[in-house]
Order: sequence, then C-alpha cells, then structure tokens
Amino acid sequence: MSDLTTVDDITKFMEHFYVRLLSNPIAAPIFDDIDMEAHMPRVVSFWEGIAFGSGQYRGSPFERHLPLELTSELFTIWYETFCSCLDDLYEGAIATMLKERARSIAFIFAHKLGLEAPAI
Ligand code: HEM
Repeated sequence: MSDLTTVDDITKFMEHFYVRLLSNPIAAPIFDDIDMEAHMPRVVSFWEGIAFGSGQYRGSPFERHLPLELTSELFTIWYETFCSCLDDLYEGAIATMLKERARSIAFIFAHKLGLEAPAI
C-alpha cells in the first residue's frame, strides 16, 4: 500500500469516506439537505490543502457546522470513519498526518460547539 500523492488520491479517499459515512444510520440524516455534488469538490480541496499545501479551498469550515445539530458521538463516528477509510487505501506520512489533523479538528470543533470531547 502506498501513501497519498495526488489530488486524485484525495478524491478516491473522500468518495470512499462518504459512502461509508452515509451508510451510517446516525450520521446519514445530517446530510439529508446537502448537495453532495457541490460538497465533494469543497472537501477535496480542503484536504488537498492540508495534505499537499495546494488546495484552492476558501471558506469557513467551522461555521458550516454551526446549524447542523452535531453531537460528540457524531464526531466520534466521523473520525472513526475517516481513519478506517484512509487505512483501507493508503499508508505513509501524509496518511498519518491527515488522521492527526482530523483528530485535532474534531476536538476543536466539538469544543467550540460546547460538546463533550469525542471519545477518540
Ligand atoms: C471533525 C472534523 C470535521 C472536519 C475536518 C470537517 C470538514 C468539513 C469541511 C471542510 C466542510 C466544507 C465546508 C465548506 O463548504 O466550506 C464540511 C462541511 C460539512 N460537514 Fe464537516 N467536518 C468535520 C466534522 C463533521 C461531522 C462530525 C459531521 C456530521 C456527521 C459533518 C457534516 C458536514 C456537513 C453536513 C457539511 C456540509 C455543510 C454545508 O454545506 O452547509 N462534519 N465539513
């Protein structure tokens, strides 16, 4: 297994991630009103920026989560899905760094939302 090296690797990972996340009965309803065709390129460029410093992502990711009625459990599900999908496809320094960043962002978002720290 190799590490992520291109934006196509991020896209493949995100497609795998959303198939699994949307098959989770607790997480799926959060995405009921989301246009996934529009959402996907935004999250790909967000993670591309973190992985390679090259994404075109401009936005306020935290603010987009404010109206979503998230819970600490949802952050745990999100993070575990993120890690298991990444581990299915890639291994190496970039993959490890993405998991670390995801975990750290999960704690920061949960804290800013006034939630309990996720059990991750
Ligand atoms: C824990 C770390 C998380 C990270 C790093 C993250 C990252 C992102 C990013 C980059 C966006 C795109 C924002 C934009 O369009 O500018 C986004 C949107 C979104 N996220 Fe997250 N997210 C996290 C947690 C979660 C969780 C736990 C859920 C629910 C299970 C969730 C559901 C959503 C939804 C529904 C949107 C679309 C919001 C909209 O377009 O109005 N996210 N997220």
